[in-house]
Amino acid sequence: MIKVDREKCIGCKACLAVCPFTVLEEVDGKPQRAKRKVCLKCMHCGAVCPTGAITYRKNPAVLEGGLPVLGDDFDKDLKNHILMRRSYRHFREEQVPRSIIEEALGLAAWAPSAKNQHPTKWIIIESQDTINKIMDCILDCVEKTGVSPEIASEFAIGNNVVMGNAKTLLLAYAWDRAISPETDTAIAMATAELYLQAKGVGTCWAGYLKRMCNNLAEIKALLPELPEDNSFYGAFMLGYPEGEDYLHIPQRVNKADIQYV
Ligand SMILES: Cc1cc2nc3c(=O)[nH]c(=O)nc-3n(C[C@H](O)[C@H](O)[C@H](O)COP(=O)(O)O)c2cc1C
Repeated sequence: MIKVDREKCIGCKACLAVCPFTVLEEVDGKPQRAKRKVCLKCMHCGAVCPTGAITYRKNPAVLEGGLPVLGDDFDKDLKNHILMRRSYRHFREEQVPRSIIEEALGLAAWAPSAKNQHPTKWIIIESQDTINKIMDCILDCVEKTGVSPEIASEFAIGNNVVMGNAKTLLLAYAWDRAISPETDTAIAMATAELYLQAKGVGTCWAGYLKRMCNNLAEIKALLPELPEDNSFYGAFMLGYPEGEDYLHIPQRVNKADIQYV
């Protein structure tokens, strides 16, 4: 499906150097798709080609416009953005526009993913009725099973540790037999989260929600049916933050623990 146009190719061999699985081999001084090798469709070959000689399914292998130019202070801005990302659990009534969520999840496709599989898919819950019903199922489960009793005790005093007062919930699911569904989903979500927060959208990872969605048939019945052998691998609370105006960056108790050998 990756094709090298031998007319356009100048034989620089840059593509050969970056192909992760030597899918391109040299034939008569120019690269050619090797037989019986699996292409990851990472498009690295196209991204280093100086003449646009590489196509994927007859389409360009790369985005138009070349590389974006980052500002001189980009490293400092990125560092500060990482430091300033917080988990938000209190939100305004206003829904986050779908276009912003879709842009963030679209960008997650550029996150790394095992063998470039990108197995994660998304369900966005905007219906307040569905959100309330999910919470009812969770409280019912806590009461019946005694699991995670802090969910109920906190809820009773007005603190919802499962979903805050989110007006939007995001669920991420993936095929269990993908190479690395949990890690791929976490990286995709972390990537989307950084962009969402750059757009002023508050997010908080919702671990309880993810677990309950996997374990409770009553919640699954409220959601689109997952394909066979798929599970939830992540969840977010989403919204525009309200009443959480951080004035400082919190200290981290656990600092990076690094050993060199
Ligand atoms: C995998 C994961 C699951 C989490 N689950 C919850 C959750 O269920 N409820 C919640 O209020 N916060 C949850 N959090 C948010 C953490 O509590 C939060 O990231 C941590 O306290 C540090 O705060 P910060 O994100 O603002 O730096 C979760 C975070 C991660 C990474």
